[in-house]
Amino acid sequence: TLGNSTNILWHKCAVGKDDRQKLLDQKGCVIWITGLSGSGKSTVACALSKILHQRGKLSYVLDGDNLRHGLNKDLSFKSEDRAENIRRVGEVAKLFADAGVICIASLISPFKRDRDACRALLPDGDFIEVFMNVPLQICEERDPKGLYKLARAGKIKGFTGIDDPYEAPLNNEIVLKYGDPCSSPVEMAEKVVFYLEEKGYLQ
Ligand code: PPS
Repeated sequence: TLGNSTNILWHKCAVGKDDRQKLLDQKGCVIWITGLSGSGKSTVACALSKILHQRGKLSYVLDGDNLRHGLNKDLSFKSEDRAENIRRVGEVAKLFADAGVICIASLISPFKRDRDACRALLPDGDFIEVFMNVPLQICEERDPKGLYKLARAGKIKGFTGIDDPYEAPLNNEIVLKYGDPCSSPVEMAEKVVFYLEEKGYLQ
């Protein structure tokens, strides 16, 4: 559908996704990292991007926290705004994947329906959902930005995991579990690289 727009056509260019993928020697896709604040999403996203870069593969990190300084600075943390936040990042990630880039999106994305809507934007297989399975207690102990403390004190309302829900994925592609053997950020990123290799994204 064309959403709310009318009289708008899709202009197709002579250079397509396949051409760009050939140029880059890789397949574009979206690695969608979901998990609680403090679960290590951004750390793993950056570690993954570094490994890919060292292997000569082009990736780009879309970090929820960072995008809220620009593209999404008009959005709050109420559920409609989180949905819009995730929708926009999903659309941007889709463009990156179409550009042939391995796009790493790192957002809490607490609601399954919002993540599934992003999945539906991509061709089958190209949306790879990674769940940072880290207990709330651990995230809260880490509290890198001191936000859990503020949330517990009632100074931040609607904080994910405290007084706002987080719906864990059930049938997603990759689970990175706290406490598993080999679960340093770099080892977690390597698991994702292994998956990408297996599925032919790195060619
Ligand atoms: S969401 O739910 O996907 O729209 O969130 P996201 O865009 O990833 O932004 C999460 C970061 O915002 C900070 N923050 C909050 N998180 C959750 N709930 C509330 N109410 C909130 N207020 C601010 C927090 O630092 C998150 O950063 P990360 O990187 O996840 O720790």
